[in-house]
Amino acid sequence: MVQTELHQRAARLLTEIGLAAPEDIRAVVPLTGGVASDIARVDLPGRSVAVKFALPKLKVAADWHAPVHRNRAEYEWLRVAAQAAPGIAPKLYGRSEALHGFALEFIAGDDVWLWKAGLLEGRRDAGQAASVGDLLGRVHAASVTRGFDREPFANRDDFHALRLEPYLLYTAQAHPGQAERLTRLAADLYRAETVLVHGDVSPKNILFRDAGPILLDAECATMGDASFDLAFCLNHLAIKALHLPQTRADLLASVLRLWGAYRPHVTWEDAAALEARVCALLPALMLARVDGKSPVEYLDDAGRDRLRAISLTLLPAPPRSLSEFTEQFAHRLEDPS
Ligand SMILES: Nc1ncnc2c1ncn2[C@@H]1O[C@H](COP(=O)(O)OP(=O)(O)O)[C@@H](O)[C@H]1O
Ligand SMILES: [Mg+2]
Repeated sequence: MVQTELHQRAARLLTEIGLAAPEDIRAVVPLTGGVASDIARVDLPGRSVAVKFALPKLKVAADWHAPVHRNRAEYEWLRVAAQAAPGIAPKLYGRSEALHGFALEFIAGDDVWLWKAGLLEGRRDAGQAASVGDLLGRVHAASVTRGFDREPFANRDDFHALRLEPYLLYTAQAHPGQAERLTRLAADLYRAETVLVHGDVSPKNILFRDAGPILLDAECATMGDASFDLAFCLNHLAIKALHLPQTRADLLASVLRLWGAYRPHVTWEDAAALEARVCALLPALMLARVDGKSPVEYLDDAGRDRLRAISLTLLPAPPRSLSEFTEQFAHRLEDPS
């Protein structure tokens, strides 16, 4: 049998971490969807595991590089989540420093679905938004406890390269009138180091199974500002509310449900101040999904124009609370004039 390069790397990884011998491997099946890594399902006798290797260059944009050591931050984030939400997080089987790769539980089954796919199919919220808010709150809260090891997450320069530059600073170039505001948001986020930020809390990275939400893809993990994870995730719900009139009200209610479940975990600062920062960042991230380096793929030109217009109205004078935000957002969607 001719083995792919990925097969060989997976075999080396599973050998190094002592999970399986090369001859145990029945198949290595690449998983699609990711842009930053090689991910595969590895079939072993009687079970499958997942392996993930960081790629030195993302598949989306030629000039978007990311150091492979982010694989360590991702694995360490998954470890924190496993402790903060026992019974929900995927099992972890070990990591190879040399291969920039790790193995974890392969999440599959009749009860497993991707949040993004569910939302785009018009599936209504049945507690998912709140469960994500709760999980995020647990992880953030765990990271402010005494003795938390921040060392694997001293990654603000990676976060800058993967998040602040492609989203906020690149967008600032397209909108000189908003450049000062966007640059200031980026600078504040760069400086912050209060909580463990996941960095990519997107419905495309969240699987649900009966036990609860599984948040994957933590390769941007860094110590930072809690508002980033919240605004990043709520942005996805807001853009889907624009895109999907039939579930709009439910999606905007989900914004509030997510925040409502997150909020009780906020011990490290005033929750209202955090909420105000989320509201200030949201329109910037909305604009970034139109004019940044990672534009939303499911909106047509008219949808993008609307999103840009709403973002530009909210950005200079953001609401202070998410209930105001959802009200104003819904209002502007009903009356685009
Ligand atoms: N442990 C896993 N079990 C099942 N599917 C997974 C697992 N890890 C990743 N996937 C699938 O692969 C996709 C890409 O994985 P992700 O970690 O998000 O990589 P990328 O950084 O390339 O986006 C996910 O959206 C999910 O569908
Ligand atoms: Mg992903």
